[in-house]
Amino acid sequence: MKNNPIIPYILIMAFGIGLIFFMSMEGVGNKEEIAHGGEDVAEEGGATAEEGAGGAELVSACIGCHGGDLTGGMGPDLHGITDVEHIKNVVMNGQGQMPPVVQDEAEAQAIAEYISTLE
Ligand code: HEC
Repeated sequence: MKNNPIIPYILIMAFGIGLIFFMSMEGVGNKEEIAHGGEDVAEEGGATAEEGAGGAELVSACIGCHGGDLTGGMGPDLHGITDVEHIKNVVMNGQGQMPPVVQDEAEAQAIAEYISTLE
C-alpha cells in the first residue's frame, strides 16, 4: 500500500517522543544554570570558598530561618545586632529554638562580623 494512513500518526508520535526527550534535557541544563547562578550571587560577597568563605557568603546557612535578607523569618531579624561576641556565641552554641549552626570558630567570627555590619 502506497499511502499508508497510519504513517502520519507514527511521525507525530516520533516527534512527540523527541520533544519530551529534548525538554527533559533542557530541564537538566536549566537546573545546573540555576545552581550556578546561586553560586555567583553568593560569591559577590567577596572571598571564594577556597580562600576561606566570607561572612556574606556563609550566611547562606542562616537564610532558611532568618529570611533571604536576614530581616527575619521563623527566626528574628538579624539587622542591628552589633555584639559580635553574642552573635558568635549564638551561631556556635545555639539559643532557644535556634540550633548550633557553625562549628568552625573562624567561620563563626566571619559571620558575626558580617551580621554586626547590617543596619
Ligand atoms: C533552624 C533555624 C535557624 C537557623 C538555621 C539559624 N537561626 Fe538564628 N535563630 C533562630 C531562632 C528561632 C532564633 C531565636 C532564638 C531565641 O532567642 O529563642 C534565632 C536567634 C538568632 C540570634 C539571636 C538574636 C538575638 O537578638 O539575640 C542570632 C544572632 C542568630 N540567630 C544568628 C544566626 C546566624 C548568623 C545564623 C547562620 C549562621 C543563624 N542564626 C541560623 C533560628 C535559626
